[in-house]
Amino acid sequence: MTATLIPPAVPVFPFSIFDPAHVGMDEYGDQVNISLAEKNILVGGEPGGGKSVALNLLVAHAALSADCTLILIDGKRVELGPWRACADTFVGPSIDDAISVFRILQAEMNQRYDMLLDYGLRKITRDTGHDARLIAIDEYAYFSATVGTKPQQAEFSALSRDLVARGRAAAMPVVGWLLWRWLVRTPRPGDSHRPWRRGDAVPDGPIR
Ligand SMILES: Nc1ncnc2c1ncn2[C@@H]1O[C@H](COP(=O)(O)OP(=O)(O)OP(=O)(O)O)[C@@H](O)[C@H]1O
Ligand SMILES: [Mg+2]
Repeated sequence: MTATLIPPAVPVFPFSIFDPAHVGMDEYGDQVNISLAEKNILVGGEPGGGKSVALNLLVAHAALSADCTLILIDGKRVELGPWRACADTFVGPSIDDAISVFRILQAEMNQRYDMLLDYGLRKITRDTGHDARLIAIDEYAYFSATVGTKPQQAEFSALSRDLVARGRAAAMPVVGWLLWRWLVRTPRPGDSHRPWRRGDAVPDGPIR
């Protein structure tokens, strides 16, 4: 009699944004994971310390997640630029574009909270069946303190602070070296305009 050995399952595409993201190995050779769900993440470090590389690992996990779309903001363009083909939105060095995108994300976040309130929910989870948006920002200070006018820098800072403060439960996290993420689903063919119900995808805004 022969026994068939079934190897343990290895996670493969698609990932979920609600699964922990692999970010490396520790000194004992064990995997180090970070959960992105319901979190914002701030990556800090000295110049050349590996902040952008760490950010790319989180963006890679989100890019491979079937339940997440990407909003990428990178003043330098080359750090997050390789992911732009699979992102909903990619913003380069324009503070006008960054502010426009954040205004739309803020409106989407408010829309999500309207729906959560209507349906008696406190937050979006894996079980509510809604896609997420990961908002990844590299070179945050470029927008908050370097380019544009003082009022523009102040508006960018206020909008990003609001997304960090309120976006978590709406499945809209922000990650970055000074950055974080979010989640929302984009409209798809066949979407109806009937009232949102638990388990429905959230009809959201025009981010592309
Ligand atoms: N875990 C790692 N192992 C080996 N090399 C790494 C690792 N992380 C980053 N590096 C290397 O370190 C260098 C700097 O990394 P990175 O650009 O991510 O730093 P940074 O903190 O974003 O820098 P800056 O402050 O200029 O934005 C790069 O050459 C990168 O390939
Ligand atoms: Mg960097």
